[in-house]
Amino acid sequence: MQTTSRTAKPSTAAPATKADDDKTLPLRINGRDYRFDGDDTMPLLWYLRDTLRLTGTKFGCGIGACGACTVLIDGKAQRACLTPMKAVAKREVTTIEGLAGAELHPLQQAWIEIDVAQCGYCQAGQIMAAADLLKRNPNPNDEEIGKISNLCRCGTYPRIRRAIKRAAEIAKSRASREGGKP
Ligand code: FES
Ligand code: FES
Repeated sequence: MQTTSRTAKPSTAAPATKADDDKTLPLRINGRDYRFDGDDTMPLLWYLRDTLRLTGTKFGCGIGACGACTVLIDGKAQRACLTPMKAVAKREVTTIEGLAGAELHPLQQAWIEIDVAQCGYCQAGQIMAAADLLKRNPNPNDEEIGKISNLCRCGTYPRIRRAIKRAAEIAKSRASREGGKP
């Protein structure tokens, strides 16, 4: 899908080599450091997609309504289309590309097992919103899952609900395998 008009050109991604007192914004995205020297009111979504080519995060509405652009900022689900670059300086941004660790995130595994996606467009955002939920609530019920406000035009909500519950089970069994907490 094509994006709407943009307020600034994205900067090029550069490794963090300059001192903290320069004018560039220090960013940390999926465990890597960057410096941003463009318009700091530009939406994070443009930087992720157009500069870093992290295209798993989708553009849907551009007004915070659909959730296709959901990423984690310091572990909290946020709409990247409404988040200016200056709001993420020195914060930890995670996109769908950075969600897995040594193995798939339990949500990713559950999504595959249950074959949740139809067209797939909303799904990265759904998973990121669910990641925030599971972090706060390792055993969410239907009502709690229903509070996720991300939209799915294909109506995959029943499978999303099942997959989040399945992910909770996977996280629990991994934790018991490793002798720790989920
Ligand atoms: S594109 Fe960000 S909420 Fe729709
Ligand atoms: S799977 Fe198509 S919009 Fe959700």
